Amino acid sequence: MSLLVAQEIYKSFGGNKVLQGVSLEVSQGETLGIVGPNGSGKTTLINVLSGVIKPDSGVVVFGGRDITHWRPHRRAKLGIGRTYQITRLFANLTAIENVMIPLHYGSRQEASQERIEEILQMVGLSHKKENYASDLSLAQRKRLELARALALNPKLLLLDEVFAGLNPVAVQEIVSLIQELKNKLGITIVIVEHVLKALSQLADRVVVLAEGRLIFEGKYEDMVKDKEVIKAYLGERYGASA
Ligand SMILES: Nc1ncnc2c1ncn2[C@@H]1O[C@H](COP(=O)(O)OP(=O)(O)OP(=O)(O)O)[C@@H](O)[C@H]1O
Ligand SMILES: [Mg+2]
Repeated sequence: MSLLVAQEIYKSFGGNKVLQGVSLEVSQGETLGIVGPNGSGKTTLINVLSGVIKPDSGVVVFGGRDITHWRPHRRAKLGIGRTYQITRLFANLTAIENVMIPLHYGSRQEASQERIEEILQMVGLSHKKENYASDLSLAQRKRLELARALALNPKLLLLDEVFAGLNPVAVQEIVSLIQELKNKLGITIVIVEHVLKALSQLADRVVVLAEGRLIFEGKYEDMVKDKEVIKAYLGERYGASA
């Protein structure tokens, strides 16, 4: 059964038609990768799924419920967690305090010290729990961003460019962490990512967005060979990094 369904999502900003009829489904326990050129609408799609942005038209269904008009905090309570491409940490709060905020905000459950420490341990940040977010390395801030998303026990985790800017060692460590979280907690994941090596290890299935439309859906191995994908996305990226 599909945990998440997005049907015919349209979104424009002024005359900029950013999403032009995007439909996708994510099964329970699946990891779906989303790739595409800069500006193709990936973050906008994540914003529509998490409720940060209302689509002009289209429907979002989660666990069989139409949540199209639900606000973000209500979706978070229902089980949709997310990270942000630009991390939204509070620089002058500690790691513990950064996790405490979504816990207080999102649920009736007490934000117990124990629960917070458990989450920080899960993401490998126990030893930094009293440090200010501003004192953490980029990789540690990404871990903390993950911890914040995990605080409300999400069934679905939306990850927007977790790996951007990390060195290959840190990428590999966080790939392992996400695999571990997936196995341990059985979370369903939607991951937007330009770091293709990480995506290839995490995604069960990949969709490619180009100019607000899905131009591919299938396995990673087939995606990298797809002529249209190479033209719209991969060619440009390989060219850019050559
Ligand atoms: N809140 C907004 N208001 C106006 N325009 C927006 C807004 N959010 C996104 N856009 C525009 O929508 C288009 C798609 O942006 P989006 O951030 O979804 O792309 P993306 O695929 O995530 O790109 P990247 O790979 O660079 O992160 C861009 O032209 C962007 O300028
Ligand atoms: Mg983006």
